[in-house]
Amino acid sequence: MTIILSFWASLSDLSSAINFDLRNFFIRVIVNIFMEELYFITSNKGKVKEAKEKLNHLDIEIIQLELDYPEIQASDLKEIALYGLDFCSEKFKSPFFLEDSGLFIEELNSFPGPYSRYVHETIGNDGILKLLLGLSNRNAYFKSVIGLYNNGPIIFEGVSRGKISNEIIGKSGFGYDPIFMPENSEKTFGEMSTEEKNSYSHRGKALDNMVKYLEKGVE
Ligand code: IMP
Repeated sequence: MTIILSFWASLSDLSSAINFDLRNFFIRVIVNIFMEELYFITSNKGKVKEAKEKLNHLDIEIIQLELDYPEIQASDLKEIALYGLDFCSEKFKSPFFLEDSGLFIEELNSFPGPYSRYVHETIGNDGILKLLLGLSNRNAYFKSVIGLYNNGPIIFEGVSRGKISNEIIGKSGFGYDPIFMPENSEKTFGEMSTEEKNSYSHRGKALDNMVKYLEKGVE
């Protein structure tokens, strides 16, 4: 371990001396040796766009794979992701990840949470705005749980706190994006570019955690 750390430190010294990012170069070499393709099991193209933007610098090719897996009814997103990992790893042998997310609204006792997909498909953003009509507490958060399978399951999480807007604003993104305004922003996710949304979002944070893991090299 000490040898690895001193090797890393010398790389940083050398890279600043010759003004070249050797550390990133070595990360890319390591990642390329161990993993060139990483499958993202999802039917959501918006999620794939966000993942590609975050993992771009690693030179890992993200390949979307639409493999149906059962989303069990559970109150915990982690449980849902672990079940999906287990199910898909029986059918698919290359390294892959999947992601499950939910919107939790304070005034509605964390509803829709794990039922976010069903609620979006049924009452949609208009329905959520109607449920909150006249309520002053519009606090909400998004949570993302990424499950990576690479010789075993590993979980990465991210949370984005914010508010439900008073109206639908913006046309970018997907799902609840036009009604969710993250903390420290005057815009909804629906008004942001992929890069900007990633800098605030639950998925962006979970992806950052996965990137840190991938940078260390994977088996
Ligand atoms: P799932 O993770 O694909 O099951 O998503 C659950 C529900 O939340 C779906 O209706 C998604 O469209 C919505 N959703 C998930 N992530 C986001 C997001 O980043 N922005 C807006 N809606 C989202």
